[in-house]
Amino acid sequence: MDNKTLSVAIMSGKGGVGKTNLALNLGFCLFKGNHPVVLMDCDLGLANLDVLLGLAPDKNLQDVIDHDVPPEDILVPIEPGGFDFLPAASGVPELFEMDEDMRALLLSKLHPVFADHHYLFMDLGAGINPTVLSFASMSRVRIIVVTPEPTSLTDGYALIKVLATQRGVKDFLVVVNQVESKAEEQQTFSRLNMACEKFLGFGLTLLGSVRMDKALPESVRRQVPLMKRTPDSPAGKDLFALARKLHSLRASLLPQLAGEPVLVNFSSGTPD
Ligand SMILES: Nc1ncnc2c1ncn2[C@@H]1O[C@H](COP(=O)(O)OP(=O)(O)O)[C@@H](O)[C@H]1O
Ligand SMILES: [Mg+2]
Repeated sequence: MDNKTLSVAIMSGKGGVGKTNLALNLGFCLFKGNHPVVLMDCDLGLANLDVLLGLAPDKNLQDVIDHDVPPEDILVPIEPGGFDFLPAASGVPELFEMDEDMRALLLSKLHPVFADHHYLFMDLGAGINPTVLSFASMSRVRIIVVTPEPTSLTDGYALIKVLATQRGVKDFLVVVNQVESKAEEQQTFSRLNMACEKFLGFGLTLLGSVRMDKALPESVRRQVPLMKRTPDSPAGKDLFALARKLHSLRASLLPQLAGEPVLVNFSSGTPD
């Protein structure tokens, strides 16, 4: 096996914190840096990547399961040359409520598509459910997105706690979205980090933050990724910095990735 794909789950306790925009724009940056990227919509309630891109895919993951459609046939190019999207079936919860065996079968079918890219971003739905827990524990890296709002922090902490206690997952990258200042980034991160250190016995890694920027809702309205429309906006600069960090992280993990499948299985209670 010669894997080179870094799998990244993007999750949050609370909805509407910026996960889908983060996946889309980090993906866009890395693609522009000559890395093929695939985004997988794992949000069963709302297939929101389609909406952000103004796409209406005619096939989705459900067709791979039900009709044995080859995964390459459902792949939608966002940009030609290696920025691709795997659409979920909007409003079809069964897709991700399948049992572990079915999920393993689906993922083994998708593996060649994953392995064809340098990054797999999984855009997870908000909150704590079996789908989120499985995908978050199978990915090589997890980004938990929070905002400075107290409810986002408490919900984020609850998700981390369940992943740690039920799945033995103890490594998390944090992105603080919609900050007004660097001080707010630090303050938000340290509140979450201190709670984890105190009650769960491990700390978190700050990946960085993205400023509150009206260019973001504007890019959503126009259905064009922010990094394509206004890369020089404050949020664009922050997203670029986050993409660079992920790029370094992948480079440092490449030797380990080579011996693993794109999605790894963590057993619960993995030793530190
Ligand atoms: N840094 C930001 N500044 C301003 N608005 C933002 C920012 N990040 C996200 N938003 C707004 O929040 C909304 C929800 O973002 P989205 O990525 O869809 O969240 P999620 O996927 O977590 O539900 C978007 O419509 C966007 O306009
Ligand atoms: Mg979303």
